[in-house]
Amino acid sequence: MQTHSSAPDALFPDSLLIEVAWEVCNQVGGIYTVIRSKVPATMPAWGGRYCLLGPYFPQQAQGEFEAYDEEQLAGMNDPYAQAVRTLRSQGMDICIGVWLVTGRPRAVLINPFQVYDRLATLKSDLWRDHQIPAPDNDDLLHQVIAFGHLAQQFIETVARQTVDQWKVIAHFHEWMTGVAIPELRRRQVPAHLLFTTHATLLGRYLAMNDPNFYDNLMLVDWRAQARHFNIEPAVSMERAAAHGSHVFTTVSELTVRECIYLLDRIPDAVLPNGLNIERFVALHEFQNLHKLYKDKIHEFVMAHFFQSYSFDLDQTIYLFTSGRYEYHNKGFDLTLEALARLNHRLQQSGLEGQVVMFFITKRPYTSINPLVLQSRAQLEEVRQTCRAIEEQVGERLFYAAAASHDHRLPDLDSMVDDYWKLRYRRGLQSWKTSQLPSVITHNLVNDQDDDILNFVRRANLINHRHDRVKIVYHPDFVSTTSPLFGMDYGQFVRGCHLGVFPSYYEPWGYTPLECVARGVPAVTSDLSGFGDYVQKNVPDHEEKGIFVVRRQERSFDQAAEELTEMLWNFVLLNRRERITQRNRVESSADIFDWKNLRVYYDRAYALALERQ
Ligand code: G6P
Ligand code: GLC
Repeated sequence: MQTHSSAPDALFPDSLLIEVAWEVCNQVGGIYTVIRSKVPATMPAWGGRYCLLGPYFPQQAQGEFEAYDEEQLAGMNDPYAQAVRTLRSQGMDICIGVWLVTGRPRAVLINPFQVYDRLATLKSDLWRDHQIPAPDNDDLLHQVIAFGHLAQQFIETVARQTVDQWKVIAHFHEWMTGVAIPELRRRQVPAHLLFTTHATLLGRYLAMNDPNFYDNLMLVDWRAQARHFNIEPAVSMERAAAHGSHVFTTVSELTVRECIYLLDRIPDAVLPNGLNIERFVALHEFQNLHKLYKDKIHEFVMAHFFQSYSFDLDQTIYLFTSGRYEYHNKGFDLTLEALARLNHRLQQSGLEGQVVMFFITKRPYTSINPLVLQSRAQLEEVRQTCRAIEEQVGERLFYAAAASHDHRLPDLDSMVDDYWKLRYRRGLQSWKTSQLPSVITHNLVNDQDDDILNFVRRANLINHRHDRVKIVYHPDFVSTTSPLFGMDYGQFVRGCHLGVFPSYYEPWGYTPLECVARGVPAVTSDLSGFGDYVQKNVPDHEEKGIFVVRRQERSFDQAAEELTEMLWNFVLLNRRERITQRNRVESSADIFDWKNLRVYYDRAYALALERQ
C-alpha cells in the first residue's frame, strides 16, 4: 500500500478508514454480524487502507485472529504498522494481524487490562474533562474505559504520523468504543469521527419496562431514568459519543426517534444493516438443503413427541423464533398469543396437519432434561434395531428371491430372528409413555417465574395430543455440539418453514434477514428497524415472503389477530406453494447484500470528510 490508489472501485483514495467495534474478533451479538459480514464488500473499496480496531480477549480472538510476528511487522511500511511499532516502543501491549474471516481484513487488537493500574486516573480524567461518571466496581465499564483510552492513543498516533499524507476516518460502533470520541475531540486529533449507535441504552431499558414506551418517549428525563436503571455512566458515554462525533448515525428510522429524544441529537444518517449474501449457482441447491435439515428436525420431533403420540411429519409445519430472552421486546408474548389463537382455529377447522413452534433463546439452566435426552437415546436404539432387521430381511429376501420358482413375495416376518423381534418389541415398550411431551427441553434454574412457561401453563398449550400447535422451548442456542439438534443455527433455520419475529423493540433485528438470506420466509414487525425498512423500501414484500405485523399505534390484541391471520394463511399453503415462495424469498435477498447497502456508509464517510 505505497500509493494512494488500490482496488479499481476505490473510493476516497486519499483516506484511511479505521472501524472500531467491541466485537471485532469477539462475538457477543449483532454488531459482530454487522462488522464481519460487511468486510467482503468493504475490502474492494478500501483494501489495505482499511483497519479494524477492537479489544484483545485471548479466548475469543483465538482461532479468529492471526497476529503478525515481529519480523513481519518490521518489514511492513503502512501507517497502521508504523503506529503499532511506535506504540510498542512506548510499551503498549498491542497487536496487529489478520482477522481470519472472508475478506481477511487487517485488525489491530489492544489488551484493555494493561492500564488497569491507572484506572482511577482514567476515571477521574473522564469526569474532569467530559463529565462522564464511572462506578467503582463494574467490570464491563472498566474494560470500556481502559479500551477507550488505548483506542484513542492508537487513532491519534495514526492520524498525527500520517497527517501530511492521509485523511483519517475513524468510525466507532456503539458506546463501548464511542467513549474514545470526546477525548479525541478535546485533543484536536486530525481525524474525521463517526459514531453509529445500534440502539440507545436507555431505550432498551425503557421499552422493557414501559408498555407505552413509544407514546412516552418525548417526555423522558434521560438523567433521572438513567439513574433509575443504574446506567448513568454508560448513558453518559453514549451521549458524549453522539455529541462529539462529526457524523452521528444509527441503524434505522425507528432508532432515529430514540436518538432525538434520549440522546438529544438528530442523526445525520441512517445506515441499514446488510449481510454478505452468498447464493448457490443452482437454485434447487438451497431447496435440497431445506429438505436435508428438515429431516434432521424430524428426527428431533420424533424423539420428542412420538414417545407419547405420533402425527404425520409430512403434514407438519416448523415455525421458530430466536434471540435474546427479552420476552416483551422480542415479541415472544405476541407470538404465544397468536399461537394459542392459531391452535384454536386449527382445532375448529377440521383441517389436517399441525404446527411445531420452536423458541430458541438463552436462559440459565442446570441441565438438559434427562428424560428428553433419554428419549432421544431410546429412539436411536430403536433405529439401530430397525437397521439390523432391515439388513437381515434384505439378505434373506435376496436369497429367497433368487431361489424362488413362483415369483411371489415370501413372508417377510418369518425372515426376522426372534432375537430381533423381541428387541424391537422391548425397545418400543420401554420408550412409549403416557406422559405429555414436555414443552421445555432443559431444566431451568427458575422454572416458576419463566414467562414463556407461565404463558403455556395459563393457556393450557402444553402439547396435548389434541393440540394442533405444539411448543418446544429450547433455552439454549442451537449448535452442532448440542445433543438434541446436532446442527448449527444456520442449518436449523434452513430446515424450518417460517421464522417469527414480531418484535416490540428492535433497532434493526438480524434474525428475519438471516431467514431471508437462506430462502426461508419470515415475519417481522413495523417496530423493528428491519421491518420498517422493508415496509418503506421493498414493495410487494409479502410476495417475497417477508410479512410485517403492524404494531405501531395498534393494540396488543389487534397485532395478535394480524399475526394469527398471517400464520393461518401460511399454514394453508400447500407444498408446491411453499416451494415457490421459498424461491421468491431467496431471490429477493440480494436487496440486503452489503454490495448494495454499503453506499449508505460511503455517503456517511463523504459527509465526515466534509466536516472537521
Ligand atoms: C424442497 C425439496 C423438495 C421437498 C420440499 C419440501 O423444496 O427440494 O424435495 O419436497 O423441500 O417442502 P416443505 O415446504 O414441505 O418442507
Ligand atoms: C443491536 C440491536 C439489534 C441490531 C444489532 C446490529 O444489537 O439491538 O436490533 O440488529 O444491534 O445493528
